[in-house]
Amino acid sequence: MPLPKAELHLHIEGTLEPELAFRLAARNGVELPYADTDALRKAYQFEDLQSFLNLYYELMAVLRTEQDFADLANAYLARAAAQGVRHAEIFFDPQAHLARGVAMVTIVEGLWRALGRSEENHGVSTRLIMCFLRDLSAESALRTLEMAEPHLDRITGVGLDSAEVGHPPAKFREVYEAAAALGLRRVAHAGEEGPPEYIAEALDVLGVERVDHGLRCVEDPALVERLVRERIPLTLCPLSNVRLRTVDTLADHPLPAMLDAGLLCTVNSDDPAYFGGYAGDNFAAVRQTLGLSEDRLRELARNSFLASFLEDDEERRARYLAEVDAYEFGDAVS
Ligand code: HPA
Ligand code: ZN
Repeated sequence: MPLPKAELHLHIEGTLEPELAFRLAARNGVELPYADTDALRKAYQFEDLQSFLNLYYELMAVLRTEQDFADLANAYLARAAAQGVRHAEIFFDPQAHLARGVAMVTIVEGLWRALGRSEENHGVSTRLIMCFLRDLSAESALRTLEMAEPHLDRITGVGLDSAEVGHPPAKFREVYEAAAALGLRRVAHAGEEGPPEYIAEALDVLGVERVDHGLRCVEDPALVERLVRERIPLTLCPLSNVRLRTVDTLADHPLPAMLDAGLLCTVNSDDPAYFGGYAGDNFAAVRQTLGLSEDRLRELARNSFLASFLEDDEERRARYLAEVDAYEFGDAVS
């Protein structure tokens, strides 16, 4: 039995496995510039975030209908559940679909076909977080938030993703203020490729409650001290960091030192179809390569539920935490 965990950093478009991409392409009459799934998998060699994003946006062309988004989310939820994920807070990138002529209602209601029945079908509770693409304009983000307003019963929070360097958090001050006024929770990617200053800016200017990645905080001891003091959760993605060359090898990942420093770290998969593993695979990899103790793994699982947006269901959070506390480790834990 896998360790119970919450996944807090997961782009639903990044769960598009090659087999499903080809199935949806055939269903929608979309031509993919790859001969087959093997040829597509061979393209999964990335130098940096941008080289990944190019493929990530290209493959989204196969997502056209509500059913496509439902199939995508159901495939993720089934895989996540098998790896011990009990709660998933799922990012989606509406601007990437709106730009291709897919309506907001198609995206949100399609995802909801899967998320709305996830507890009964997969035993996974869910939240939906709408991300703004930071390499597009602030005006585009504001328009996207307006388009989402009729669907806010489905959406818990907003996030910020895509190409980080050169697009500091402050660019999105206005849309984050508007999101807060609408009662939405706030997170943002910061300190993945961008400098530690972006992490502080996301906290100070955007009012984020959690930082996605936040890896580069380790370069600034005063920032680490602040993140520890304020108990700001970081949603780390170790296998993603290796594939996008944010760290040289997994053995070089600063996760153990970050835990030793008292940071509230969580382990997540980011874009599992592209980066070689789902949440449990990330746990297994850090256990094996970084030699994390059972106490540390349990701490990571506890942190994932503590950092979850479950304030509207504290009973559920307590139940999940009790599951973690009662968990007995075996050899094949993930
Ligand atoms: N970083 C930034 N944007 C993204 C990512 C990521 O790892 N995955 C999908 N969009
Ligand atoms: Zn991400």
